[in-house]
Amino acid sequence: MQQLDLFYEGKAKKIYHTDDPDLIIIHFKDDASAFNGIKKAKIKGKGIINNEITTIIFQDLAKEGIESHFVKGLNERDMLAKKLDIIPLEIVVRNVISGSMSKRLNIKEGTTIPNTIYELCLKNDKLGDPLLNRHHAVALGLTTYEDLDEMFAQTVKINNALKKLFANINITLVDFKIEFGKTKDGKIILADEISPDSCRLWDSTTKEILDKDRFRRDLGDVIQAYQQVLERLKNRK
Ligand code: TMP
Repeated sequence: MQQLDLFYEGKAKKIYHTDDPDLIIIHFKDDASAFNGIKKAKIKGKGIINNEITTIIFQDLAKEGIESHFVKGLNERDMLAKKLDIIPLEIVVRNVISGSMSKRLNIKEGTTIPNTIYELCLKNDKLGDPLLNRHHAVALGLTTYEDLDEMFAQTVKINNALKKLFANINITLVDFKIEFGKTKDGKIILADEISPDSCRLWDSTTKEILDKDRFRRDLGDVIQAYQQVLERLKNRK
């Protein structure tokens, strides 16, 4: 299997074609960005840690019967994945109130809620990934109601599996963002990454922030927090 041309470069990852048209290589960079690209930095070693965390999580989800685009690790920064047509939507899951929901609705961060909140955002940097609902998504031709039902059904399972995985290492999964894509035979599969870049993770005892909010909010020790998440995942029972 050979790496071919770069066909997509995002804020934290580069994606390459391979000589197998059904497979891509995902390269995890050290770049971090926040507030829709206004704040940028390089966090040395972040790409390596996020590749490893995403690998552990996708492997754990596979054990729980949840398929993702992950095929295998290639080296410390590169992962082999299935080539999908990415659906240009982000699904945000909230188990505890934080971030944009806290600001938008003026609710104290850390407020617990009786049910899980599922949000849809348009994957569009120029518009700042605006919130939309399922009817907008269908009207805009981005997806169908049937595919949305499938994505949300998988999302419920993913949230349950991730909450269990993190609870086991004394971490509260506050919220996270996932993306889905379609295989050429029409199957919807979890894509992208799941890492402290795309989740809010708080130590369940101390409430210490162990995710990208350390970068967004200038809390310092960003890489140490990511490393701690990785170490806890590696040492889980
Ligand atoms: P938010 O509170 O800013 O809406 O973010 C909710 C969660 O989703 C948080 O864990 C960060 C993650 N997220 C991304 O990873 N990328 C995105 O583009 C957005 C909007 C959220």
